[in-house]
Amino acid sequence: MTIDSKDTIDPLRLPQHVAIIMDGNGRWAKEKGKLRVFGHKNGVKAVRDTVEGAVEIGVKYLTLYAFSTENWNRPKLEVSALMELLVSTLSKETKTLMKNGVRLQAIGDLAQLPGRCYKGLQEVIAQTGNNTNSTLTLALSYSARWEITEAAKQLAKAALEGSIQPDEIDEKLFSQYLSTRDMPDPELLIRTSGEQRISNYLLWQLAYSELYFTPKMWPEFRKADLFEAIAAYQKRERRFGMTSEQLNS
Ligand code: IPE
Ligand code: IPE
Ligand code: MG
Repeated sequence: MTIDSKDTIDPLRLPQHVAIIMDGNGRWAKEKGKLRVFGHKNGVKAVRDTVEGAVEIGVKYLTLYAFSTENWNRPKLEVSALMELLVSTLSKETKTLMKNGVRLQAIGDLAQLPGRCYKGLQEVIAQTGNNTNSTLTLALSYSARWEITEAAKQLAKAALEGSIQPDEIDEKLFSQYLSTRDMPDPELLIRTSGEQRISNYLLWQLAYSELYFTPKMWPEFRKADLFEAIAAYQKRERRFGMTSEQLNS
């Protein structure tokens, strides 16, 4: 299956931007009789392999949901373990990011992150800032409603200051106030673990994305699964409100 799906991918119709909801770490660990944190630790391998796969086939933007605003409500121990894991992983993986020419970015309410985490993150962002093969964006302390509310706040301020007129606000201008302003919208969203929901992820940007759900738990996700998802994406007809006949004429 591995080689098959990669071979069926049309390099001329790749999604530019793939977004992933990395879900199922806890259940994967539980199945093995381990603690949830064991699942998170094993999720790192999946991240590494997926990033490598994205670079290998030429996906320019990969955005991973790593920690949601709602995840702050998890048990304290799990939250601190996740934050520690983030710090240790970032420093360990910098070399691989450099080797693969991957630029790291982060979106979300980063001010909520523990200081050490924030600092570690900014260091890797700075170090990888000139890489041009792919952009890896971590959604951290992120929720789409938070992001959209922030955008509304900034727009209101700009209007009060007189630097924009309310009537100038259109979809294009609004997008410029989102944290994804420099990225195309994801053509493809993947969620692992069999759950079929968006969980407050990229609500604006996913308006016309193809959604792909796989029962695989995140710690078992590998580049072959990414390739399979992209191959499935390429079989879809994206109509954007038009008819099939219009598209094919
Ligand atoms: C995804 O796995 C990782 C994070 C949300 C941080 P979960 O921890 O949600 O695992 P499940 O969904 O409970 O199995
Ligand atoms: C979504 O997963 C957030 C991340 C993957 C970081 P959750 O496991 O938190 O989502 P719900 O609560 O099941 O919707
Ligand atoms: Mg989950």
